[in-house]
Amino acid sequence: MARLCVVGTGYVGLVTGACLAGLGHGVRCVDVDSRKVEAINDGKSTIYEPGLGELVKRMVRAGRLCATTSYREALADADFTFICVGTPSQADGSTDLAYICEAGAMVADALAQRQKSKGKTAQARRHILIVKSTVPPGTTESLEPILREAGLPHVGLCMNPEFLREGNAVYDFMKPDRIVVGAMERKDAEAVMRLYSTVAAPKLKTDLRTAEMIKYASNSFLATKISFANELANMCEKFGVDVYDVADGMGHDRRIGRAFLNAGAGFGGSCFKKDVSALLHEVRHRGAEARILNAVLEINEAQPYRVVELLREALGPLTGARIALLGLAFKDNTDDVRDSAAIKVARALVDAGANVIAYDPQATANAKKELGPRIEYAASAAEALKGADACALVTEWPQFAKIPMRAFRKMKRPLVIEGRNVLDKKALKKAGIKYAGIGRKKF
Ligand code: UGA
Repeated sequence: MARLCVVGTGYVGLVTGACLAGLGHGVRCVDVDSRKVEAINDGKSTIYEPGLGELVKRMVRAGRLCATTSYREALADADFTFICVGTPSQADGSTDLAYICEAGAMVADALAQRQKSKGKTAQARRHILIVKSTVPPGTTESLEPILREAGLPHVGLCMNPEFLREGNAVYDFMKPDRIVVGAMERKDAEAVMRLYSTVAAPKLKTDLRTAEMIKYASNSFLATKISFANELANMCEKFGVDVYDVADGMGHDRRIGRAFLNAGAGFGGSCFKKDVSALLHEVRHRGAEARILNAVLEINEAQPYRVVELLREALGPLTGARIALLGLAFKDNTDDVRDSAAIKVARALVDAGANVIAYDPQATANAKKELGPRIEYAASAAEALKGADACALVTEWPQFAKIPMRAFRKMKRPLVIEGRNVLDKKALKKAGIKYAGIGRKKF
């Protein structure tokens, strides 16, 4: 069991802290937000994420997880620090590294104080500072001068990217496809890898910049796959072919794989657009171009509006039309609406004069902060559908597949536009409900 400090209790930080405690380590989280700290110490998760609330409660009770606002307290006896703070996008696509630098400086200060209090003669224990936040190649090594100035030659630097999907984060942490640790010194990478000794996964040790780049390359490739599927969907519509049948046929080829070929209203969330834009910015800054990434973002920008076009093709002008919007979150199993395609569809429909009534199993409260009273919010899918001129499904919640056909029949004009791939097409057809979708065959 190792003693760890995790800086930041946002999405990545809390999942990382709770899961590392779950692996048997002692974890102290540090955050400036005292409300988050209190909640964690009460055994409560501050974010909606399946399985996380239960894990936080168990780990706090077991005495393996706690939180504090004090860096000195969090670092009192830790041998490893994971930096899990936000790296937001700036207007030009570049990454704001202020939180990373601040966290690095605070950790350095606390470690220097710890060293001082132990007396000059005491042998300094090796400490490893690990960046987990997604940062442009070259960022982790830029923390070195901060450590040097603080007189901390015994602190090593590592980069350990996260590959956590919202809604599946605990599973992804415990059963990862791979673990990557970049380091300046091999012994540090080995020490960080030992923290994951009970996790079965391919383990890759690299240098710092390679680890940072692996994260950007992975997210950019996944975003590229989705934009490819969306471009393909638009082509399939022209040929009267269903894009999902094509994706299934392609996906059996092991060189291609079926995952992330699901066409629809486009990717959202806090990561893909941010990371692709950051990589584009960094590449341009170095005098090169990443043409494929430009196209990925361009296709994704247009994709939510395909849902609105399909509604218009079916209904004519949308002024005064009542549209049931199923889904507000950027994907299923989350209450997160950041960069959600559903929010873009809602705004476009309102701008076109439609009356929108939306339902989401988890994200309504967050959507209200974005859309306010511009749309109505229903307490169930059935309530949203009642009396609607059409339904647009934009988030892949699996429970939407269970909406009874009688609820669709309660629409004024039974018409469904699907921006994902959730509904049972055969059942809809049998029930006499008209259907169109992105890259789908109409009936
Ligand atoms: C993504 C990556 O999948 C994680 O590996 C990564 O760690 C994370 O970003 C991050 O950088 O922190 P996340 O954004 O939570 O995770 O969600 P995804 O499951 O990747 O979905 C992102 C978006 O793509 C969603 O809007 C989803 O609806 C859309 N999507 C996904 C598609 O439109 N089609 C697909 O085939 C798959």
